[in-house]
Order: sequence, then C-alpha cells, then structure tokens
Amino acid sequence: MEQYIIKGGKPLQGEVCIGGAKNAALGILAAAVMTDDVVTIENLPDVSDVNVLLQAIEEIGATVRRKDKHTVEICGKTINNVSVEYEFIKKIRASYYLLGALLGKYKEADVALPGGCDIGSRPIDQHIKGFKALGTNVDLSEGMIKAKAEKLVGSHIYLDVVSVGATINIMMVAALSEGNTILENAAKEPHIVDVANFLNSMGANIKGAGTDVIRIKGVEKLHGTTYSIVPDQIEAGTFMFAAAATNGDVIVKNVIPKHLESLSAKLVEIGCTVEEYDEAVRVIATNKKVATQVNTMPYPGFPTDMQPQMAVVLSTCEGTSIVTENIFENRFKYVDELSRMGANIKVEANVAIITGVNGLKGSYVSAPDLRAGAALVIAGMMAQGYTIVEDIKYIQRGYEDFEVKLRGLGASIEKVSDDKEIQKFKLKMA
Ligand code: UD1
Repeated sequence: MEQYIIKGGKPLQGEVCIGGAKNAALGILAAAVMTDDVVTIENLPDVSDVNVLLQAIEEIGATVRRKDKHTVEICGKTINNVSVEYEFIKKIRASYYLLGALLGKYKEADVALPGGCDIGSRPIDQHIKGFKALGTNVDLSEGMIKAKAEKLVGSHIYLDVVSVGATINIMMVAALSEGNTILENAAKEPHIVDVANFLNSMGANIKGAGTDVIRIKGVEKLHGTTYSIVPDQIEAGTFMFAAAATNGDVIVKNVIPKHLESLSAKLVEIGCTVEEYDEAVRVIATNKKVATQVNTMPYPGFPTDMQPQMAVVLSTCEGTSIVTENIFENRFKYVDELSRMGANIKVEANVAIITGVNGLKGSYVSAPDLRAGAALVIAGMMAQGYTIVEDIKYIQRGYEDFEVKLRGLGASIEKVSDDKEIQKFKLKMA
C-alpha cells in the first residue's frame, strides 16, 4: 500500500502550476459521448477519478484515445450499450453523468444507483426530478436507475437544493430536448460554466451558466469540438492553503483568481498576504495568523471541498475558529487524525470548534477521503517530525503528482510502499 512520508517544519516556497479541473473534466468527458463526431479534450488532469470514468466510457463502446498525458480523443459513434454498471459507480460517483449524456443522446440510459460515500449520504432526487420534468420515465429497481423517454421536451425546472451534479446532468439532457428549458436555482460553480461552454462548443445553446438561472434551447444534435478544461480551483486552493499553513511564500500559477476569491478572502482575514495577477496568485504567510469563522456554501461561497484544508490551517492560528459544514454531513472524519497530531478540535453536529495550538506533531494518520487526505498532508508539512499518511489512493483520485509538486516547493515528502523505503527517507533526511 502506498503512503506518503513527510518531514515537516519547512515553509513552502516557489512556484507551482495548476492542472485542469477534475470536477469539470468528469462532466465534460461524459458529455463528449453525446455526439458521433470525434471530440478532443485538452488540459485533462491525469488523476484516477478521470481515468476510471474513461474506462466506463470505453466499457459502453465509445472509442477513447489518449493522445498524451493531458489530451484525450473520444468518439461516441461506436457506443453499443447504454448501461453503466455498479463497478464504475462504486469507484466514482460522477459516472452518473453518463446518465444525462446517454439519456440526452439515445433517450435511454441505465446507470447503477450511487450509494452514499465517504463524505455523506448524497441523494440524487434532484437529478431525477429534472429528468422527469423533461419527459423521462424513471424507474428505480434492482439497484439501477432506468431512464427512458419517448420524446424529451424542454421544461421549467426549479431545483429544491443547489446541486452541482443535478445542474450538469439536467443541462446535458436539456441540450438535446425539444424546445426551451429554464433551470432555476442552478449551481454556479466554475465547472458548471465549463461544462456549459463545452456543450456550446459542440453546438448546444446554453445561456446563463454561472448564474442561478440557466436557459437552454434544445438542438437536434451536437458536433465534434476541441476544448481545453478550466484550471482546478480546488487544487489551486489546496496549494494556497499549504503555503499559508507552512508560513511560506508561493506563487500558484495557471489559475483564474476570480474563482479563488472566497479562499483569498479567508487567507487575508487570518493575516496572510494574497497578491492577484492575471493568471496567478501569490500567498505570503508568517506564523502570526489569527482565528476566523468559515461557513461552507455553494459557489461563490466557501467551498466544502476546501473545508478540511482550512481547518488544518486554523489548527495553529491564534484564538478560536468556528468551521460550519453546510453541504455534507460527514466531512469531519479527519478531525480525529488531526487531534492525534496535537490539534485541539471539538465537533458538535456540523460545527468544528478549533482552538489554535502552538504547533502540530508528526504522527501516523490515515486519509479518510480525497480532500481530507490532502489536508492531512498539509498538516504533515506543518508538523515537527515525521508524518506518515496512509490510504493515499484517495488523494490520487483528485491530485496529479501531488508529492512531486510539493517537492518542487521545497517540501520533504516521498511516496513510499514499505518500511525499507521509510527508513531510506529518514536516513536521507537525518
Ligand atoms: C460536487 C463535487 C464535489 C463537491 C460538491 C459540492 C463533482 C464531481 N463533485 O458533488 O467535489 O464537494 O459538488 O460543491 O463535481 N443533494 C440533494 N439531492 C440531489 C443532489 C444533491 O439533496 O439530487 C444535496 C447533497 O446531499 C449535498 C448538496 O445537495 O448536500 C450539494 O450536492 P451536489 O452539489 O450535488 O454535490 P455533487 O455534485 O455530488
């Protein structure tokens, strides 16, 4: 089993380049099968979630050709199966984007029902509400969502919950429905805009993505395109917070600073300096950082996917911070691990009360999910001594070459698979 070993205590310094957004990629790859033409997707992050979805896309018969590490060509003409098995959904929930993509294109799709996951129960009632409103008959049986429509017709849909997944899935179906769809209370995340831009580059007619009302004029068919994925706001944020946590000075390049505003604002509140450039942000931090309050919210609010990394930064800020998680009910699983490193955190329902301590101490910890895993790596870089982070498969779902990029900033971190490699790292560091 691969692990990360980290020797902490060094401020991160230098420049890091951010890759394409994993969450945009998942929507875009699924949407790419909606035409029979070849679609080329560039700036694709090479992370395991993306690679599993590509396997699911091949499994239904589409042609997938990896041109290089970050470019893929997909052709949906050869699709011979509209059923996506549990094997894929289990590995990556976002395989359910194939439901919207296949339903839009073939008026029929069967996809295994995603269960709960590491961070919460995650229902999909809003996706189903949207499909039904567009004329789909949805049957849930034997662990499958079976969706079929005689005819897809545009509709006026109001989402009861702001959902990224439902917004993307409904947008895909509506793009190939007859007439107009108005989707209200839509999610506004940058990756919603990116999926909409991608669909528009295939000939769809989608307006208003990035606001809470999206208007979609259905078209008969979509065509091939070449499209480059937007930079990953969460990867960028993770490096910004790693800089803050280690009292470092880091330039995070290839980002859209506007997408990072809620993160920059919190860093400034706790006493960091954040400089914005056209396509970069620089975070400069010292050990004089103070507590604050954080509430996770849909975009443009503070993202739930940055909540664990923020809590780690706050663990050594002076005073008492309050972090409220409003999106997923099970997102404080890393707190016990962080407490083992010396943090002082109490969780009551969806609120974490963090009393700043002087420093963290290295320990054995286990990544409970993707973002919490990244947060524990940050904690390891702050801590005195050695930290070993287990279950890094979660981190590899969403961060490309995480340890390589961190080493580029001066971190002492290595991917190891056994005790011998751990000893070797310690000898090197001694
Ligand atoms: C996406 C992101 C995930 C991020 C989350 C919130 C992807 C692949 N994943 O997940 O990284 O943490 O947005 O920014 O893009 N809900 C319902 N009914 C539904 C759908 C959602 O009640 O039909 C609830 C969820 O339980 C949750 C909230 O709505 O409380 C937001 O979920 P949603 O935005 O759908 O998250 P995902 O799209 O699953």
